[in-house]
Amino acid sequence: MYGLINKAVEGLVRSKFGDDAWNRIRTRAGLPDEPFVSMEQYDDKTTYDLVGAASVELGAPAEAILEEFGRFWTVYTAEAGYGELMRSAGHNLPDFLRNLDQLHTRVRLSFPHLKPPSFSVSNEKAASLDLHYYSDRPGLAPLVVGLLKGLAERFSVQVTVSWRRVDGVERPHDLFHVSWTSKGGGPS
Ligand code: HEM
Repeated sequence: MYGLINKAVEGLVRSKFGDDAWNRIRTRAGLPDEPFVSMEQYDDKTTYDLVGAASVELGAPAEAILEEFGRFWTVYTAEAGYGELMRSAGHNLPDFLRNLDQLHTRVRLSFPHLKPPSFSVSNEKAASLDLHYYSDRPGLAPLVVGLLKGLAERFSVQVTVSWRRVDGVERPHDLFHVSWTSKGGGPS
């Protein structure tokens, strides 16, 4: 994945746990003491190794690290020069979720070798929907849970997410049932 992702993992660890924690994680992941380059492509293994090393060093399950990173990503991208892109994807949670593929298509203009996931929405109701997540990369569903929670904060709604794996279909994928209420209580 592009260095932008690894750089964000580094930013999360440094800001929340400090520089020493980052150095221990980087060393455990077998990475040199060099800055990540946002526009450079790294092997996916680098990112998985970072998550694994963070899990050991911080004493938290890899799923929790991924979820925390997902939350962080929604804020990080907005601050790392992609605020306009985030704004253009929608002004409320369901609009935004319907536009996720379009968002990554626009990201590809800057990152031409992007291998983005794909999302689709079904079963839409006034305050809930099903989000289908397709990726060739295994094990990243907890990242999507974190992303959904981060987006909920962005749009000031309270969200409930349940997740299940859908196998035995033409395109196996992860399915998230997402429901929300406005922070005041009723549907937004
Ligand atoms: C402007 C904001 C965003 C930017 C710049 C961005 C960019 C990226 C980049 C560079 C990757 C790595 C893929 C690669 O290098 O091949 C990625 C992966 C990913 N993105 Fe985004 N993204 C953005 C917003 C979002 C949002 C809001 C979601 C919410 C669901 C999302 C979901 C994902 C997921 C789940 C992956 C992991 C890769 C996979 O599943 O295969 N992204 N994105």
